[in-house]
Amino acid sequence: MPSTATSVQRVSRIADARAAIAKVRADGARIGFVPTMGALHRGHLSLVDRARRESDAVVMSIFVNPLQFGPTEDFGRYPRPLEEDARLASEVGVDILFTPSSDEMYRDGRATIVSAGPRGEVWEGAVRPGHFDGVLTVVAKLFNIVQPDVAILGRKDLQQASLIQAMARDLDFDLTIVVAPTIREGDGLALSSRNAYFSKSERGDALVLIRALRAVAAAFGAGERDGRRLEDIGRQRFADVRRASLDYFAVVNPMTLEPEPRAERGSAAIVAARLGATRLIDNIILGENDQD
Ligand code: PAF
Repeated sequence: MPSTATSVQRVSRIADARAAIAKVRADGARIGFVPTMGALHRGHLSLVDRARRESDAVVMSIFVNPLQFGPTEDFGRYPRPLEEDARLASEVGVDILFTPSSDEMYRDGRATIVSAGPRGEVWEGAVRPGHFDGVLTVVAKLFNIVQPDVAILGRKDLQQASLIQAMARDLDFDLTIVVAPTIREGDGLALSSRNAYFSKSERGDALVLIRALRAVAAAFGAGERDGRRLEDIGRQRFADVRRASLDYFAVVNPMTLEPEPRAERGSAAIVAARLGATRLIDNIILGENDQD
């Protein structure tokens, strides 16, 4: 299906989204889906690009999902530049933009949540209790509404991508999930909607995450395989950055999320840290170049 800068169709009701998607599917289009919370940046746009390569029609959702924010988190101040997002989505060739309200997504009397299980309680889940249940619940709903052939997720949220893949497999969602590489600024900072919160000096300190990950990747490249020693190399980088408070630095299996005593090519180094009021996560796959 041709996509032009003016062709994006905006829908905010579930019934309208289903009808619009059914119409393109009836023309034989393969549906690609990019779920987002908006505040679109080049990282999101690269996911759309990938979706366009994997499908004929691209659906994007923008929904700041209250269920995945803890009571003290940034739900209220999360950026919501909807008109700018719609313009960008249109420019990069999104065909259908689904922007439901909270009332539309979560009707009164709602009783069901999707549980991420024990893998949702480690790393990000240990710091953000209930976060992944909120993510899986909304993603399951979005998958049911959109019924995509392929969904594109960003690897920056590695644990999220792994849990969504597990959910799709365990609950028999009939779709393919593609996990696309992290997009970075020239100096290595992973793109994130939350980067907008930084002061100039915090922005500089935030580089400690990628520097620590790259130090670990370099040690792995030089032959270090001991998971604990690799973690220590990463953690040491934080010692000099007083304002960065490390939540975790670990070398894990990217699918099971369990610590790897012996790192292998394809193991993930994952990190989360706070800079002032902003919490950042990042990761790197050891032995791969595409995130360096
Ligand atoms: O990564 C995000 O933006 C969100 O967690 C997602 C997958 C859109 C679910 O709300």
